[in-house]
Amino acid sequence: MANSDRVVLALGGAGTVGSGIVKALLDKGFKVAVISRDSSRLDKLRSFVSPSTKDNLTAIVGDVGSEAGAEQAKQALLKAVGKVTDVVSSLGFSWWQGGPPHTQSLKDLHWVIETLLFSTFVSWKTFFPLVRDRSDGSYTFITGGAGEKVLMPGTGFLTVGAASTLAFCQVLREEYPEVPCKLNQVKIDAGVAAPERMAPGYLNHLDLGEGVAALVERGNSSHSVFTITSAADLKNLLLQKNL
Ligand SMILES: NC(=O)c1ccc[n+]([C@@H]2O[C@H](COP(=O)([O-])OP(=O)(O)OC[C@H]3O[C@@H](n4cnc5c(N)ncnc54)[C@H](OP(=O)(O)O)[C@@H]3O)[C@@H](O)[C@H]2O)c1
Repeated sequence: MANSDRVVLALGGAGTVGSGIVKALLDKGFKVAVISRDSSRLDKLRSFVSPSTKDNLTAIVGDVGSEAGAEQAKQALLKAVGKVTDVVSSLGFSWWQGGPPHTQSLKDLHWVIETLLFSTFVSWKTFFPLVRDRSDGSYTFITGGAGEKVLMPGTGFLTVGAASTLAFCQVLREEYPEVPCKLNQVKIDAGVAAPERMAPGYLNHLDLGEGVAALVERGNSSHSVFTITSAADLKNLLLQKNL
C-alpha cells in the first residue's frame, strides 16, 4: 500500500517524542492523526510540521486515559479520517523526579501509572481492533529504558511507571504471537529532546522520528524490541540492521 493510502494514528503525537515522529511520517507522505487533550499543543504541532504536509495532519482533541474518552476520540477519529492503518503510541511524560518513595503520596504514584500505563492500555484496547487484522498495518509502542533502572535519585516512580509499560508490551507480544498486523516496540535508553533543548547524550526527536517512520514504512518485522541508546542505533533503525 502506498504511504499516501496509509493513515497513522499517533497517540502522544503532540509531545516531544511524538512530534518528531509525526513530522517524519508526514514527510514520507503518510496521513497522520493526532489526539491530544490540549488544543494549544495541537496548534503548536500544526505549525511545527512541514508546511506542505499540513493538509495530511488531522488533529483531534480527546483524552485516551479513560474508556469513555478513548471511545469518543475513536468515533471522532473515524469520522475525520475514515480508517486507521497504523498506530504509534508514545503516551506518557518526558520526565519525573518527584523524590524518593517515602516522600511521595499514593496520588503521585497513581498519576504516574495513569499517565504511563493506563492510557497505553486503554488506547491499545480501543484502537488495536482497527489495525489488528491488517497484514499491511502496524502498532508500535515507544517506551523508555527508565523501566529497567533508576536513572538517578528521586526518579523511582518514573522507573515504576516505565517498567509497567515495558511489562505490558511484553504481555502483548506473548499473548498475541500471531496477529496479522506488525506489533513492535522501540525502547529508548536515552533522553530525547528538540534540537534547541539538546543535552549531552540526548537524541534529537527529529532523528528519532525518522527512524520510527522508517520502521512503520517498512512493516517487515513484528514482535521485535528495537533498543535505541545512541544516534548510531537510530541509523541502524533507519537501515534495518539488527539491534
Ligand atoms: N522524552 C524523553 O527523554 C524520553 C526518553 C525515553 C523514552 N521516552 C518515551 O516517550 C514517551 C513520551 O515522552 P515525551 O517526552 O514525548 O512526553 P510528552 O512530551 O509529555 O508527550 C507525551 C504525550 O502523551 C500524551 N498523553 C498522555 N496521557 C494522555 C491521555 N490520557 N490522552 C491523550 N494524550 C495523552 C500527552 O498529550 P497531551 O498533549 O494531551 O498532554 C503528550 O502529548 C515517554 O512516556 C517514554 O515512554 C521519552
